[in-house]
Amino acid sequence: MKTILSLATAFTFVASVLCFFPSRCSGEVSDFDSIKLYTLTNDSEMTVKVTNYGAIITSIVVPDRNDELADVVLGYDRLEDYINAVDKPYFGAIVGRYGNRIAKGEFSIDGETYSLAVNNGENHLHGGVIGFDKVVWDVDLFDDHQIVLSYHAKDMEEGYPGNLAVSVTYTLTDDNRIVIDYHATTDKRTPVNLTQHSYFNLKGEGNGTILDHRLTINADRFTPVDAGLIPTGELRTVASTPFDFTTEKPIGRDIHIENEQLSFGGGFDHNWVLNRSESDGNLILAAHVSEPESGRTLTVFTTEPGIQFYCGNFLDGRLRGKSGQAYLHRGGFCLETQHFPDSPNQPNFPSTLLAPGETYQTQTIFTFSTDNAGR
Ligand code: BGC
Repeated sequence: MKTILSLATAFTFVASVLCFFPSRCSGEVSDFDSIKLYTLTNDSEMTVKVTNYGAIITSIVVPDRNDELADVVLGYDRLEDYINAVDKPYFGAIVGRYGNRIAKGEFSIDGETYSLAVNNGENHLHGGVIGFDKVVWDVDLFDDHQIVLSYHAKDMEEGYPGNLAVSVTYTLTDDNRIVIDYHATTDKRTPVNLTQHSYFNLKGEGNGTILDHRLTINADRFTPVDAGLIPTGELRTVASTPFDFTTEKPIGRDIHIENEQLSFGGGFDHNWVLNRSESDGNLILAAHVSEPESGRTLTVFTTEPGIQFYCGNFLDGRLRGKSGQAYLHRGGFCLETQHFPDSPNQPNFPSTLLAPGETYQTQTIFTFSTDNAGR
Protein backbone atom coordinates (compact mmCIF):
# COMPACT_ATOMS: atom_id res chain seq x y z
CA MET A 1 0.00 0.00 0.00
CA LYS A 2 2.86 2.33 0.90
CA THR A 3 4.31 2.11 -2.62
CA ILE A 4 0.99 2.90 -4.22
CA LEU A 5 0.60 5.85 -1.93
CA SER A 6 3.94 7.41 -2.64
CA LEU A 7 3.50 6.90 -6.38
CA ALA A 8 0.09 8.50 -6.11
CA THR A 9 1.50 11.41 -4.21
CA ALA A 10 4.27 11.98 -6.72
CA PHE A 11 1.76 11.82 -9.56
CA THR A 12 -0.62 14.22 -7.97
CA PHE A 13 2.06 16.76 -7.25
CA VAL A 14 2.56 16.98 -10.98
CA ALA A 15 -1.10 16.74 -11.87
CA SER A 16 -2.39 19.07 -9.22
CA VAL A 17 -3.96 22.32 -10.28
CA LEU A 18 -5.41 23.20 -6.90
CA CYS A 19 -2.62 24.98 -5.32
CA PHE A 20 -3.77 25.43 -2.07
CA PHE A 21 -2.23 28.31 -0.25
CA PRO A 22 -1.94 26.68 3.13
CA SER A 23 -0.78 29.66 5.10
CA ARG A 24 -3.83 31.64 4.07
CA CYS A 25 -6.31 28.99 5.18
CA SER A 26 -7.95 29.46 8.52
CA GLY A 27 -9.48 27.17 11.02
CA GLU A 28 -9.68 23.57 11.62
CA VAL A 29 -7.20 21.95 9.24
CA SER A 30 -3.67 21.43 10.56
CA ASP A 31 -2.04 18.96 8.14
CA PHE A 32 -2.32 20.94 4.91
CA ASP A 33 0.67 19.20 3.36
CA SER A 34 -1.24 15.94 3.15
CA ILE A 35 -4.04 17.52 1.11
CA LYS A 36 -3.74 16.68 -2.59
CA LEU A 37 -5.79 16.64 -5.74
CA TYR A 38 -6.23 13.32 -7.59
CA THR A 39 -7.38 13.00 -11.19
CA LEU A 40 -9.37 10.04 -12.51
CA THR A 41 -9.55 9.59 -16.27
CA ASN A 42 -11.22 7.19 -18.69
CA ASP A 43 -11.23 6.29 -22.38
CA SER A 44 -14.25 8.49 -23.12
CA GLU A 45 -12.79 11.96 -22.45
CA MET A 46 -14.23 12.15 -18.95
CA THR A 47 -12.17 13.35 -15.98
CA VAL A 48 -13.06 13.52 -12.32
CA LYS A 49 -10.97 15.36 -9.73
CA VAL A 50 -11.09 14.45 -6.08
CA THR A 51 -9.30 15.93 -3.08
CA ASN A 52 -8.77 14.16 0.21
CA TYR A 53 -10.01 17.28 2.03
CA GLY A 54 -13.62 16.29 2.71
CA ALA A 55 -13.37 13.57 0.01
CA ILE A 56 -14.63 16.37 -2.22
CA ILE A 57 -15.27 15.91 -5.95
CA THR A 58 -13.92 19.23 -7.22
CA SER A 59 -14.58 18.71 -10.92
CA ILE A 60 -16.42 16.41 -13.36
CA VAL A 61 -15.65 17.11 -17.02
CA VAL A 62 -17.95 15.40 -19.53
CA PRO A 63 -18.72 15.88 -23.23
CA ASP A 64 -22.00 17.23 -24.57
CA ARG A 65 -23.78 15.88 -27.66
CA ASN A 66 -21.25 17.69 -29.89
CA ASP A 67 -18.29 16.42 -27.88
CA GLU A 68 -17.75 19.82 -26.27
CA LEU A 69 -16.33 19.35 -22.80
CA ALA A 70 -17.58 21.18 -19.72
CA ASP A 71 -17.14 20.91 -15.99
CA VAL A 72 -20.61 20.11 -14.66
CA VAL A 73 -20.13 20.49 -10.90
CA LEU A 74 -19.89 23.63 -8.81
CA GLY A 75 -16.71 24.18 -6.82
CA TYR A 76 -13.56 26.20 -6.35
CA ASP A 77 -10.04 26.00 -7.72
CA ARG A 78 -8.33 26.76 -4.41
CA LEU A 79 -8.41 24.77 -1.20
CA GLU A 80 -8.74 27.89 0.90
CA ASP A 81 -12.09 28.62 -0.74
CA TYR A 82 -13.42 25.20 0.25
CA ILE A 83 -12.26 25.79 3.80
CA ASN A 84 -13.45 29.37 4.15
CA ALA A 85 -16.59 29.30 1.95
CA VAL A 86 -19.37 31.65 2.99
CA ASP A 87 -22.20 29.59 4.47
CA LYS A 88 -20.27 26.38 3.67
CA PRO A 89 -22.43 24.95 0.88
CA TYR A 90 -20.74 21.51 1.07
CA PHE A 91 -19.81 21.66 -2.65
CA GLY A 92 -18.92 18.13 -3.81
CA ALA A 93 -18.21 16.74 -0.34
CA ILE A 94 -18.92 13.49 1.41
CA VAL A 95 -21.31 14.41 4.17
CA GLY A 96 -21.37 12.49 7.47
CA ARG A 97 -21.54 11.02 10.05
CA TYR A 98 -25.17 11.89 9.40
CA GLY A 99 -26.23 13.54 6.15
CA ASN A 100 -29.05 16.09 6.52
CA ARG A 101 -30.85 17.07 9.73
CA ILE A 102 -31.35 15.59 13.18
CA ALA A 103 -34.05 17.45 15.13
CA LYS A 104 -32.70 19.67 17.90
CA GLY A 105 -29.38 17.81 17.63
CA GLU A 106 -30.58 15.00 19.89
CA PHE A 107 -31.28 11.29 19.73
CA SER A 108 -31.30 8.34 22.11
CA ILE A 109 -29.88 4.85 21.81
CA ASP A 110 -30.66 2.20 24.43
CA GLY A 111 -32.01 4.87 26.80
CA GLU A 112 -28.91 7.09 26.53
CA THR A 113 -29.40 10.57 25.05
CA TYR A 114 -26.72 12.08 22.82
CA SER A 115 -26.40 15.81 22.11
CA LEU A 116 -24.94 17.07 18.86
CA ALA A 117 -24.04 20.54 17.65
CA VAL A 118 -27.03 22.67 16.71
CA ASN A 119 -25.68 24.26 13.54
CA ASN A 120 -28.81 24.89 11.47
CA GLY A 121 -31.48 26.92 13.27
CA GLU A 122 -32.40 24.72 16.21
CA ASN A 123 -31.30 21.54 14.42
CA HIS A 124 -28.17 19.55 13.59
CA LEU A 125 -27.08 19.47 9.92
CA HIS A 126 -24.62 17.32 7.94
CA GLY A 127 -22.65 15.83 10.82
CA GLY A 128 -21.93 18.98 12.82
CA VAL A 129 -19.42 21.78 12.99
CA ILE A 130 -16.55 19.67 11.67
CA GLY A 131 -18.29 16.94 9.73
CA PHE A 132 -16.65 14.51 7.31
CA ASP A 133 -16.66 17.27 4.66
CA LYS A 134 -14.16 19.33 6.71
CA VAL A 135 -11.56 16.71 7.66
CA VAL A 136 -8.53 15.33 5.87
CA TRP A 137 -9.09 11.77 4.64
CA ASP A 138 -6.37 9.15 4.09
CA VAL A 139 -5.83 7.93 0.55
CA ASP A 140 -5.53 4.13 0.73
CA LEU A 141 -5.33 3.49 -3.00
CA PHE A 142 -5.19 5.57 -6.15
CA ASP A 143 -4.87 4.79 -9.83
CA ASP A 144 -6.24 6.59 -12.85
CA HIS A 145 -9.68 4.93 -12.55
CA GLN A 146 -10.15 4.69 -8.81
CA ILE A 147 -9.46 6.31 -5.46
CA VAL A 148 -10.16 4.82 -2.04
CA LEU A 149 -10.39 7.32 0.83
CA SER A 150 -10.79 6.51 4.49
CA TYR A 151 -11.44 8.36 7.72
CA HIS A 152 -11.56 7.23 11.34
CA ALA A 153 -14.04 9.25 13.35
CA LYS A 154 -13.44 9.04 17.08
CA ASP A 155 -15.90 7.99 19.76
CA MET A 156 -17.94 11.12 20.67
CA GLU A 157 -16.51 13.13 17.75
CA GLU A 158 -19.17 15.78 17.09
CA GLY A 159 -21.19 14.06 19.86
CA TYR A 160 -21.77 10.73 18.08
CA PRO A 161 -21.05 7.47 19.93
CA GLY A 162 -18.52 4.94 18.65
CA ASN A 163 -15.23 4.91 16.79
CA LEU A 164 -16.34 4.78 13.17
CA ALA A 165 -14.05 3.54 10.37
CA VAL A 166 -15.37 4.90 7.08
CA SER A 167 -14.22 4.34 3.53
CA VAL A 168 -15.45 5.84 0.29
CA THR A 169 -14.34 4.55 -3.12
CA TYR A 170 -14.83 6.58 -6.28
CA THR A 171 -14.47 4.52 -9.48
CA LEU A 172 -14.65 6.11 -12.93
CA THR A 173 -15.65 3.57 -15.59
CA ASP A 174 -15.00 3.81 -19.33
CA ASP A 175 -18.73 4.19 -19.94
CA ASN A 176 -18.86 7.46 -17.96
CA ARG A 177 -20.16 6.19 -14.66
CA ILE A 178 -18.90 7.36 -11.29
CA VAL A 179 -19.48 4.47 -8.92
CA ILE A 180 -19.42 5.47 -5.25
CA ASP A 181 -19.05 2.70 -2.65
CA TYR A 182 -19.44 3.52 1.02
CA HIS A 183 -18.35 1.27 3.91
CA ALA A 184 -18.32 1.80 7.67
CA THR A 185 -17.88 -0.20 10.85
CA THR A 186 -18.26 0.88 14.45
CA ASP A 187 -17.44 -0.28 17.98
CA LYS A 188 -20.65 1.19 19.51
CA ARG A 189 -24.21 1.53 18.21
CA THR A 190 -24.37 4.77 16.22
CA PRO A 191 -26.44 6.38 13.47
CA VAL A 192 -24.69 6.55 10.07
CA ASN A 193 -25.99 8.22 6.92
CA LEU A 194 -23.36 9.10 4.31
CA THR A 195 -24.02 10.95 1.09
CA GLN A 196 -22.34 12.84 -1.75
CA HIS A 197 -23.11 16.55 -1.97
CA SER A 198 -22.16 17.50 -5.55
CA TYR A 199 -24.05 20.43 -7.09
CA PHE A 200 -24.63 19.74 -10.79
CA ASN A 201 -25.28 22.11 -13.65
CA LEU A 202 -25.27 20.08 -16.86
CA LYS A 203 -24.79 23.23 -18.97
CA GLY A 204 -21.50 23.73 -17.15
CA GLU A 205 -20.80 25.19 -13.72
CA GLY A 206 -21.49 28.90 -13.47
CA ASN A 207 -23.66 28.81 -16.59
CA GLY A 208 -26.98 30.20 -15.30
CA THR A 209 -29.63 28.37 -13.34
CA ILE A 210 -30.76 24.76 -13.46
CA LEU A 211 -34.48 25.55 -13.72
CA ASP A 212 -34.66 24.36 -17.33
CA HIS A 213 -33.10 20.96 -16.55
CA ARG A 214 -35.69 18.20 -16.86
CA LEU A 215 -35.97 15.88 -13.89
CA THR A 216 -37.59 12.53 -13.18
CA ILE A 217 -37.53 11.03 -9.66
CA ASN A 218 -38.51 7.41 -9.20
CA ALA A 219 -40.69 8.14 -6.17
CA ASP A 220 -44.44 8.23 -5.54
CA ARG A 221 -44.00 9.73 -2.07
CA PHE A 222 -41.89 12.30 -0.24
CA THR A 223 -41.31 13.17 3.41
CA PRO A 224 -42.98 16.54 4.16
CA VAL A 225 -41.17 18.77 6.67
CA ASP A 226 -41.85 21.46 9.27
CA ALA A 227 -40.52 25.01 9.00
CA GLY A 228 -37.09 23.85 10.25
CA LEU A 229 -36.97 21.20 7.46
CA ILE A 230 -37.44 18.31 9.90
CA PRO A 231 -39.72 15.54 8.53
CA THR A 232 -43.14 15.33 10.16
CA GLY A 233 -42.98 11.51 9.91
CA GLU A 234 -45.60 11.32 7.16
CA LEU A 235 -44.87 9.66 3.81
CA ARG A 236 -47.05 11.81 1.54
CA THR A 237 -48.08 11.08 -2.04
CA VAL A 238 -46.57 13.39 -4.65
CA ALA A 239 -49.69 13.06 -6.85
CA SER A 240 -51.26 16.43 -7.72
CA THR A 241 -48.46 18.36 -5.98
CA PRO A 242 -45.39 20.24 -7.29
CA PHE A 243 -43.37 17.32 -5.87
CA ASP A 244 -44.56 14.99 -8.61
CA PHE A 245 -41.49 14.21 -10.74
CA THR A 246 -42.73 10.72 -11.66
CA THR A 247 -42.76 11.90 -15.26
CA GLU A 248 -40.12 14.23 -16.62
CA LYS A 249 -40.66 17.97 -16.13
CA PRO A 250 -38.45 21.08 -15.95
CA ILE A 251 -37.26 21.71 -12.40
CA GLY A 252 -38.61 25.27 -12.61
CA ARG A 253 -42.08 24.40 -13.90
CA ASP A 254 -43.92 24.17 -10.58
CA ILE A 255 -41.38 25.78 -8.28
CA HIS A 256 -43.35 29.05 -7.93
CA ILE A 257 -46.69 27.41 -7.14
CA GLU A 258 -48.04 28.49 -3.78
CA ASN A 259 -47.42 25.53 -1.55
CA GLU A 260 -46.51 25.32 2.14
CA GLN A 261 -43.82 22.67 1.59
CA LEU A 262 -42.16 24.73 -1.13
CA SER A 263 -42.19 27.78 1.10
CA PHE A 264 -40.54 25.84 3.96
CA GLY A 265 -37.74 24.73 1.63
CA GLY A 266 -37.49 28.01 -0.30
CA GLY A 267 -38.05 25.67 -3.26
CA PHE A 268 -37.30 21.96 -3.49
CA ASP A 269 -35.22 20.80 -0.53
CA HIS A 270 -36.89 17.54 0.40
CA ASN A 271 -36.38 13.82 0.68
CA TRP A 272 -38.20 11.60 -1.82
CA VAL A 273 -39.07 8.00 -0.84
CA LEU A 274 -37.76 5.86 -3.67
CA ASN A 275 -40.11 3.26 -5.13
CA ARG A 276 -38.74 0.00 -3.82
CA SER A 277 -40.08 -2.85 -1.72
CA GLU A 278 -39.14 -2.41 1.90
CA SER A 279 -36.61 -5.18 2.38
CA ASP A 280 -34.97 -4.60 -0.97
CA GLY A 281 -31.54 -2.96 -0.82
CA ASN A 282 -30.78 -3.52 -4.51
CA LEU A 283 -29.40 -0.91 -6.81
CA ILE A 284 -32.36 0.87 -8.42
CA LEU A 285 -32.96 3.87 -10.62
CA ALA A 286 -33.40 6.93 -8.40
CA ALA A 287 -33.45 9.93 -10.73
CA HIS A 288 -32.75 11.09 -14.26
CA VAL A 289 -31.89 14.62 -15.40
CA SER A 290 -31.53 15.93 -18.94
CA GLU A 291 -30.41 19.35 -20.09
CA PRO A 292 -31.94 20.28 -23.45
CA GLU A 293 -29.23 22.69 -24.76
CA SER A 294 -26.15 20.52 -24.27
CA GLY A 295 -27.96 17.17 -24.44
CA ARG A 296 -26.09 16.05 -21.32
CA THR A 297 -27.91 13.64 -19.05
CA LEU A 298 -27.29 12.36 -15.55
CA THR A 299 -28.89 9.19 -14.22
CA VAL A 300 -28.60 8.25 -10.57
CA PHE A 301 -28.82 4.69 -9.25
CA THR A 302 -28.64 3.77 -5.58
CA THR A 303 -29.09 1.10 -2.93
CA GLU A 304 -30.45 3.78 -0.55
CA PRO A 305 -34.16 4.22 0.31
CA GLY A 306 -34.28 8.00 -0.26
CA ILE A 307 -32.95 10.93 -2.23
CA GLN A 308 -32.70 14.57 -1.16
CA PHE A 309 -33.38 16.78 -4.13
CA TYR A 310 -32.05 20.24 -3.25
CA CYS A 311 -32.06 22.83 -6.00
CA GLY A 312 -29.56 25.36 -4.66
CA ASN A 313 -32.13 27.61 -2.96
CA PHE A 314 -29.51 28.99 -0.59
CA LEU A 315 -27.09 30.02 -3.33
CA ASP A 316 -27.43 33.75 -3.88
CA GLY A 317 -24.71 34.90 -6.28
CA ARG A 318 -22.16 35.74 -3.56
CA LEU A 319 -19.93 32.72 -4.20
CA ARG A 320 -17.70 32.77 -7.27
CA GLY A 321 -16.64 29.44 -8.62
CA LYS A 322 -13.87 27.91 -10.69
CA SER A 323 -14.53 29.91 -13.83
CA GLY A 324 -14.96 33.16 -11.91
CA GLN A 325 -18.71 33.15 -12.49
CA ALA A 326 -21.08 33.92 -9.62
CA TYR A 327 -23.10 30.91 -8.53
CA LEU A 328 -26.64 32.17 -8.88
CA HIS A 329 -29.72 31.31 -6.87
CA ARG A 330 -30.57 27.80 -8.12
CA GLY A 331 -27.35 27.63 -10.12
CA GLY A 332 -26.87 23.95 -9.21
CA PHE A 333 -28.87 21.00 -7.91
CA CYS A 334 -27.96 18.13 -5.59
CA LEU A 335 -29.31 14.60 -5.71
CA GLU A 336 -28.20 13.21 -2.36
CA THR A 337 -28.91 9.51 -2.05
CA GLN A 338 -29.49 8.72 1.60
CA HIS A 339 -31.65 7.42 4.43
CA PHE A 340 -34.36 9.86 5.43
CA PRO A 341 -33.51 12.98 7.47
CA ASP A 342 -34.00 12.71 11.24
CA SER A 343 -34.33 8.90 11.11
CA PRO A 344 -32.79 8.51 14.61
CA ASN A 345 -35.95 10.21 15.96
CA GLN A 346 -38.46 8.69 13.54
CA PRO A 347 -39.39 5.12 14.47
CA ASN A 348 -41.35 4.64 11.22
CA PHE A 349 -38.41 5.44 8.96
CA PRO A 350 -35.86 2.79 7.87
CA SER A 351 -33.23 2.58 10.60
CA THR A 352 -29.83 4.28 10.30
CA LEU A 353 -28.40 2.49 13.32
CA LEU A 354 -25.13 0.61 12.80
CA ALA A 355 -24.08 -1.92 15.45
CA PRO A 356 -20.66 -3.41 16.22
CA GLY A 357 -20.07 -6.45 14.00
CA GLU A 358 -22.23 -5.04 11.18
CA THR A 359 -20.93 -3.38 8.01
CA TYR A 360 -22.55 -0.29 6.58
CA GLN A 361 -22.40 -0.77 2.84
CA THR A 362 -24.17 1.33 0.23
CA GLN A 363 -23.60 2.18 -3.42
CA THR A 364 -24.60 5.10 -5.61
CA ILE A 365 -23.82 5.53 -9.30
CA PHE A 366 -23.84 8.78 -11.29
CA THR A 367 -24.08 7.89 -15.00
CA PHE A 368 -23.37 10.60 -17.58
CA SER A 369 -24.53 10.40 -21.16
CA THR A 370 -25.96 12.54 -23.95
CA ASP A 371 -29.38 12.67 -25.46
CA ASN A 372 -28.75 12.95 -29.18
CA ALA A 373 -32.41 13.02 -30.06
CA GLY A 374 -32.93 16.24 -28.09
CA ARG A 375 -32.40 18.76 -30.92
C1 BGC B 1 -29.89 20.45 2.57
C2 BGC B 1 -30.15 21.92 2.46
C3 BGC B 1 -28.87 22.65 2.79
C4 BGC B 1 -27.81 22.18 1.81
C5 BGC B 1 -26.47 22.84 2.06
C6 BGC B 1 -28.82 20.08 1.62
O1 BGC B 1 -28.52 18.73 1.77
O2 BGC B 1 -31.05 19.70 2.33
O3 BGC B 1 -31.18 22.33 3.33
O4 BGC B 1 -29.03 24.03 2.69
O5 BGC B 1 -27.66 20.81 1.93
O6 BGC B 1 -26.14 22.71 3.36
